Amino acid sequence: MKQPYILILYFSRFGHVEKLAEQLRLGVESEMMEARLRTVPTISKNGEFVSETAPPDSPIYCKESDLIGCSGLLIGSPTRFGNMAAELKLFLDSTANIWLSGSLIGKPAGVFTASSSFHGGQESTLLSMMIPLLHHGMILTGVPYSEAALNKTKRGGTPYGSSHIESDELSPEERQICRTQGKNIARLTRKLL
Ligand SMILES: Cc1cc2nc3c(=O)[nH]c(=O)nc-3n(C[C@H](O)[C@H](O)[C@H](O)COP(=O)(O)O)c2cc1C
Repeated sequence: MKQPYILILYFSRFGHVEKLAEQLRLGVESEMMEARLRTVPTISKNGEFVSETAPPDSPIYCKESDLIGCSGLLIGSPTRFGNMAAELKLFLDSTANIWLSGSLIGKPAGVFTASSSFHGGQESTLLSMMIPLLHHGMILTGVPYSEAALNKTKRGGTPYGSSHIESDELSPEERQICRTQGKNIARLTRKLL
């Protein structure tokens, strides 16, 4: 049997969502499960590739095979007008063949986001990312209130998924909620293998 892995697929223009992805990775790995971090390229308003951090063929960019082969999936995006970023949406809109093949049916999934303001639409962004995953037949998971940091947080962290309100660093609660989300999806994935 192939080694199972959780694909952590995110877009991050200024690094805040990436920090969440890193903490989620640690949560997944704490359950002895591989976490595969992948991103999608930055695009201009004309739809051109504009990322300066890596060439278009860099392995950091998610390939169809990364998605098809995953046993669980976490997707993250900055909050953009209360919705996911166009870059992630563009990638998801390219997954019709995967949808047709049913490769993601019955696999666990979760979502995460960052925003600059407290009431700037994190929940709507998190929910917007869940919709295509439901079309793919995935089993959506959030963060249960058994995670005490959900009641203590003065910044990000929601039952819909991990989140961060922009600041220099993630708060301890934001980090804790990421770790729990990563751990939980790894555990559920293992149960469903
Ligand atoms: C076009 C655009 C729209 C945005 N819309 C929102 C928004 O609706 N609410 C909010 O709080 N922040 C909004 N932001 C701020 C980003 O969500 C925030 O800077 C986030 O931390 C960026 O994540 P990143 O550093 O991973 O790119 C917006 C930023 C941009 C560029």
